[in-house]
Amino acid sequence: MLLSIVSVLFVLSLAAAYEVSFDNRRWVIDGQETFLIGGSFHYPRATPDEWPAIFSEMKANGLNLIQTYVFWDLHEPTEGEYNFPDDPKDPANLVLFLQEAQKVGLYVHLRVGPYACAEWSNGGIPVWMETHHKETIFRTDDDFWLQKIEDFWDKTFEVVSNAGLMASSGGPIVMAQIENEYGNIEYGYGSGGAAYVKKVADFATNHPISKEVPIIMCQQGEGVGTTPPENVINACNGYYCDNWIERHSASNPSHPHMFTENWPGWFQKWGEAVPHRPASDVAFSVARWFAKGGSFMNYYMAFGGTSFGRKVGGPNIITSYDYDVAINEYGYRAEPKFSLLTMLHEAIYSVQDVMFTMEPISSTNGTNCEIQSYYKEDKCVLFLSNIGVDGEDCEFYGEFKIPSWSTSIVVGTSNTHNAHDGQCSGMEEIYGTKTSLEEAEQPNMVAYGAAEDIVVGELAIKSTVAVPTSKDAASDTVIVNESPLEQLTLTDDSTDYVWYTFNYDSPADSTSSVLEFELATSGGVGLMVFVDGELKNTERAVSDSTSQLEDSNYATHLSISIPLKEGSNDISILSTSMGLKNYGPYLERNRVGIVSDILVDGKVCDSGIVHTVGMDGEGRAGVVKRVGGERSDKSLIWYTTTFPSPADIADRVVGIDLSAMGKGAAYLNGNHIGRFWDMKAGDEGCNICDEMEYNGQYEAARCRTGCGELSQTIYKLPSIWFNKEGENELLLFVEEAGEGDMEVKIVDVKMEPSAQ
Ligand code: GAL
Repeated sequence: MLLSIVSVLFVLSLAAAYEVSFDNRRWVIDGQETFLIGGSFHYPRATPDEWPAIFSEMKANGLNLIQTYVFWDLHEPTEGEYNFPDDPKDPANLVLFLQEAQKVGLYVHLRVGPYACAEWSNGGIPVWMETHHKETIFRTDDDFWLQKIEDFWDKTFEVVSNAGLMASSGGPIVMAQIENEYGNIEYGYGSGGAAYVKKVADFATNHPISKEVPIIMCQQGEGVGTTPPENVINACNGYYCDNWIERHSASNPSHPHMFTENWPGWFQKWGEAVPHRPASDVAFSVARWFAKGGSFMNYYMAFGGTSFGRKVGGPNIITSYDYDVAINEYGYRAEPKFSLLTMLHEAIYSVQDVMFTMEPISSTNGTNCEIQSYYKEDKCVLFLSNIGVDGEDCEFYGEFKIPSWSTSIVVGTSNTHNAHDGQCSGMEEIYGTKTSLEEAEQPNMVAYGAAEDIVVGELAIKSTVAVPTSKDAASDTVIVNESPLEQLTLTDDSTDYVWYTFNYDSPADSTSSVLEFELATSGGVGLMVFVDGELKNTERAVSDSTSQLEDSNYATHLSISIPLKEGSNDISILSTSMGLKNYGPYLERNRVGIVSDILVDGKVCDSGIVHTVGMDGEGRAGVVKRVGGERSDKSLIWYTTTFPSPADIADRVVGIDLSAMGKGAAYLNGNHIGRFWDMKAGDEGCNICDEMEYNGQYEAARCRTGCGELSQTIYKLPSIWFNKEGENELLLFVEEAGEGDMEVKIVDVKMEPSAQ
């Protein structure tokens, strides 16, 4: 009884409406002046049971806001059928996610795009938008596109408003974004781009929620595409945005300066080494941003997590979305990033009051040495920066030595009470993006220990997939067409796999006949070629080198050598999608699979192509159900194993080592862990960057580690996916076998000290 009274009181106390306002220097939220320091966290990249702990860590990191996209494809998986589930275990439960953020006191920046980018397949746009509406041009003032995105906005805000999540009903949502970095790709649409910017901006600013929260468009205007109308706030994304502030001030003097995506790391592709952005460089970018007048800064990401299942974009991006950020994929603090940034946030909040009402006064002290100062009553705050990359210190006032590529925050007393004479005495450094490294936690790294008590038994073959044959043409579960059909049109992206099978009558035996066609590249390049059921060739390009077809789709011309015997040969080509392209103009042109005639030794094969959608065993209706005999190459095999539940799994952090399993997809108790691949990074280009010594503009190719090693070996297993009692089933689909013995290990994931 008491419990329910308490919870009613709790709900009531949340329900007080409050206002969100801003000027060019600060945010006023519920009457409180503040800077906003946020971090991105995408709800489907963790399981709901993990959300509260991640939010608490974000809070402990000194963040006061979270930013998330709303993923259209999750919420409208079938056209016209919205899915905003209220199941507490469903990662698409947006309302629960936002409620959990509110519980720990985080505000929310909701990015309803609905185009997301985010290394999310197709940028979050449901694939039915391209397969069922072939005439629609996305992200233009095309009527159907506009109608659909407006409907999605309406629906999303109806859901969050009804759940009391807008600031106007005491909820955490304090701002909303429409579109996403359109300015970056607007040139691709010619003059039509400007019309679209106006349409979406007008829609959002006339929408009822614009009376409640500010509307943001990032990377839109001030030299990056068309400037939106005055009541939309433009924002900057990048590794550094401090130099953007001057431009933004000049064109929008009444707007706050917003850095909506500060990338504290980067994502990783298959075949790449692990990106790493030094903590001191992230801190430098943030300190410079606030020094020069920023009032909102968001880390993209605060927690990156995992792109479970088939949701990762790219193409060819790995399953982990760790992003090298302060809260790692497993929810641990990555040091020294977490503590160095926590100290920075504390320092900024402690001086924000002095900074709220004035523009910084900038001066220099010799080459590369810059001061931004703020004064209020008897207080002064100075940001002392060394923007040099030569390793030379900057010396200020004979007492502060600032290492290159770093900023220190200094507080003091101003007895002149005059903001413009620059007098500050009794100065004390409260934080330095490099000098505070001494007080930061020691660097650590993820360590994997064999989870001795979680013993996955021998992998048993569940089934071997039979390679389709041209005789399947008689089955009503295949599609036969004279020429090959594009893959997404066949699958609606419900599977990674399509088989193209045909019979070819060869005039003679040959050891190297040539199979030729154009393969669309929006889903990567992944092919296996079988002749009479035997694997003869594999084509896996992860490079982005593409040619442009006549209809402006991207494709690559493949020329594959195969042996043929005189007379009849069944040729089966398995095309595999590795996540759809998520960035760039014209995503409606995303294509997968074979997009030209198929030629064998220069002759067009027009005897009828048999298209088999999906992979036997995937649990899809419509595929030909047949089990093949074992092939010596060990490809296309479903493996299974069961194992008892570990008693304390709810308190463990575990992953699975799939490095011996080649390429494929993994499932635990029916939950799709993600795609796995034993793809190695190149041997060259790695470089361990020392936090103190690091200098100069960061870009993702600097400071990588793990050259010559697999891009990913361990795949996260959320503890909620284990059966707490009874057996667990691990199911692995191996497209292509790895080298050596097939075995998997479940590992405990811990943190241990690292050298750097
Ligand atoms: C930005 C985009 C984000 C994400 C990021 C790279 O351009 O807005 O959604 O894709 O790049 O991680």
